Amino acid sequence: MLYIGVDLGTSAVKLLLMDAGGKIENIVSKEYPIEFPRPGWSQQNPADWWNAVKEGLKELTKGHDASQVAGISFGGQMHGLVILDEQDEVIRPAILWNDGRTTKETDYLNQVIGKEKLSKYTANIAFAGFTAPKILWIKENEPENFAKIKKIMLPKDYIAYKLSGTFCTDVSDASGMLLFDVEHKCWSEEMLEICGISKEQLAKIYESTDVVGTLRPDVAKELGLPDTVKVIAGAGDNAAAAVGTGTVGDGMCNISLGTSGTIFISSEKFGVDKNNALHAFAHADGHFHLMGCMLSAASCNKWWMDDILGTEEYAREQAAVEKLGENNVYFLPYLMGERSPLNDPFARGTFIGLTMDTSRTDMTQAVLEGVAFAVRDSFEVARSLGICIERSKICGGGAKSPLWKKIIANVLNIKIDSIESEEGPGYGGAMLAAVGCGEYASVEEAAQKLVKVVDTVVPEPELAAKYEERYRKFSKIYPAVKELFPQIS
Ligand code: XUL
Repeated sequence: MLYIGVDLGTSAVKLLLMDAGGKIENIVSKEYPIEFPRPGWSQQNPADWWNAVKEGLKELTKGHDASQVAGISFGGQMHGLVILDEQDEVIRPAILWNDGRTTKETDYLNQVIGKEKLSKYTANIAFAGFTAPKILWIKENEPENFAKIKKIMLPKDYIAYKLSGTFCTDVSDASGMLLFDVEHKCWSEEMLEICGISKEQLAKIYESTDVVGTLRPDVAKELGLPDTVKVIAGAGDNAAAAVGTGTVGDGMCNISLGTSGTIFISSEKFGVDKNNALHAFAHADGHFHLMGCMLSAASCNKWWMDDILGTEEYAREQAAVEKLGENNVYFLPYLMGERSPLNDPFARGTFIGLTMDTSRTDMTQAVLEGVAFAVRDSFEVARSLGICIERSKICGGGAKSPLWKKIIANVLNIKIDSIESEEGPGYGGAMLAAVGCGEYASVEEAAQKLVKVVDTVVPEPELAAKYEERYRKFSKIYPAVKELFPQIS
């Protein structure tokens, strides 16, 4: 049998075809545009996702026996607000996870409703990218659109709806809406009331491996797939990536260097960071996790290479980096504001420490190091909770760079394990489909059988010590310039 994983990302959708033994048969990627209508705003058109998924699926199965496809599942960009009207038409562009327009609404939720209540209702506090503040933003700024809302969805759930006709979501992705009682895995009545919405506007909640339906016959025909293909609920992209890297069960860690950067710690028990700096969400393995999310990670490097240096030669630029641990230039990677652990939509990207002899390579190095230091910020929060992490898996586009992995291993001073496939969310999505179709008894069993560590970067004591010193300096920069950001943005 064959299984399809759909990684509905921010710059592209990646589709992955996997056989029952975990072998990747094909990968197809389709890009779509992203709009930044104002600084800090970020939107996408759900129709672009759907067209890219359809085109991608047709290409994915070409040359393979499509009749063998048994299931399809997802890892989707989280928190995005997709709203549909009575005719099931999308009302406005989706407001994405890295959109920072909701400062007023986030302040209202955190200050007026209060963090304590939010944490009690949902296990989390409000961050600008979460879904509930976006609903309040629409209510305040686009009342005519708010009045039309019949269905509220997350990005990957829109695709599941188009494929199967089932209005569904899963526990991991629902966790990031700030409408979901994570501990009890149900919608929070209190949060629905605060946002002025009803349960009927929200999807039915499933575990990530649950079958939500089968392909709609017309869609199956268009895609050249059997209409018996099962659609499995799937997960938010970080939980799916965790599955894809075998970060399941208790106390495992995964770092994802995608458009966003995340540190994901799996846990068998429900638990909340007492300061809510890390998100407390449900996991796709039936348990829970803590997560820190940086809004710009590999996207900082992409911006620096593509937009500023104007080069596609990422490896060549990085090959010139020679003096690790000895850079006088620092970079704050807050190109879209920052989520964890700063919760500051006004924060901005910053180079500091430039001199007449600063080179292009120093700045390239500073970008990679700045992201690693920001990952360390969330890592420190986990440490302060008594969580001891000695090694982590890594995935995402940034994990393709051996230099970046070395920097991360030494900045965090832990071992970094690479998996056979860096396709975290896509591979995890295919694994969820396989479990949902009964190929494996559980997510844990699938992870045990399919995920293989192929390489480990071990920190070097001397280099880790240099980075410890530099991290201390890095940690002083944001507090020193923080007050300036709202004034200049
Ligand atoms: C997680 C988050 C991002 C997106 C990226 O909280 O906002 O990692 O899921 O797609």
